[in-house]
Amino acid sequence: MKSNNIGVDVEKAIKSIRHDKIFILTDKNTHIHCYQFIKNTPSISEAKLITIPADDSNKTIDNLSKVWEELTHNGATRHSLLINLGGGMVTDLGGFAAATFKRGIKYINIPTTLLGAVDAAVGGKTGINFAGFKNEIGAFYPSEQVIISTEFFHTLSHEAILSGYAEMIKHALIHSSSDLDKLLTFPLDNIDFSQLNELLFRSVGIKRGIVDQDPFEKNIRKALNLGHTTAHAFESFAIAQQRPIPHGYAVAWGIIVELYLSLRICNFPQDKLQKTIRFIQQNYGAFNIGCDDYETLFEIAKHDKKNQGDKINFTLLSAIGNVRIDQIAEKELIFEAFDFYRDSVGL
Ligand code: GLY
Repeated sequence: MKSNNIGVDVEKAIKSIRHDKIFILTDKNTHIHCYQFIKNTPSISEAKLITIPADDSNKTIDNLSKVWEELTHNGATRHSLLINLGGGMVTDLGGFAAATFKRGIKYINIPTTLLGAVDAAVGGKTGINFAGFKNEIGAFYPSEQVIISTEFFHTLSHEAILSGYAEMIKHALIHSSSDLDKLLTFPLDNIDFSQLNELLFRSVGIKRGIVDQDPFEKNIRKALNLGHTTAHAFESFAIAQQRPIPHGYAVAWGIIVELYLSLRICNFPQDKLQKTIRFIQQNYGAFNIGCDDYETLFEIAKHDKKNQGDKINFTLLSAIGNVRIDQIAEKELIFEAFDFYRDSVGL
């Protein structure tokens, strides 16, 4: 839900859910910058606070275990309520802690980043990174509520805004040309937040519409994976090389690769491809890969959850808003798409 007064809406949400104890999960940053927005809310002032380290490299089994321990040692029961206050790292890990603790407790997500609001907090995908792979372990386990307050976004870095914005571009690509045109002409170098918020809620609506039709990703929810086969390979590769990249940036670069595959496999129109790529290249720069890295990236992509056997599965487009799920690309074509990506971003 859209919140105009986060304190009031959190209190209302808590009151509407039967629970005994309340636990609130933050990371070190959201503890400092966001917790203050809700800490004086009557129900929250009684809650037990759990804080874990920030950023995606900490979405680990150790931090998950720390949350389980805190819940156990502070008397959480199957009727306790967990509130996740943070970006995708907190809502993914916290959601998975909720999914698994005593076989499942209720939870609320309060995303504090644009990326979290537009994607991670919505739709019930929870999980952690494992063995060098993104979101390798997890569960579909929806939250009771997602409370989106744009108050949190005004202090986000430009990089954090862009990271969320890439998922909004993805939603527009799978939905409609008019949505895409609005995003590609929005001035990111001089952001009007009230306009951005409108675009954000429109984007969340697109995602919700898809998740409601297919919550367990058997079919149309796979549309949301556009750009992500490549993005996850880039991210895992970047982590292995100790040069982590923001998720949304990886999605933006992944979109370049996968729109090229869309062109080659599904006849995606060249003009739309160029327009989208130009915007990405101007705003997101480049993730540096060379042709020597293609084999490694290909091997990483073989681990993607969406694959069956050792074929690499992609979600592609035949036009904007026209999604083709379960598309297979051969190795040679994927390498060609990496070449195209490198040319497009000027590597
Ligand atoms: N992030 C894609 C999904 O929620 O399905």
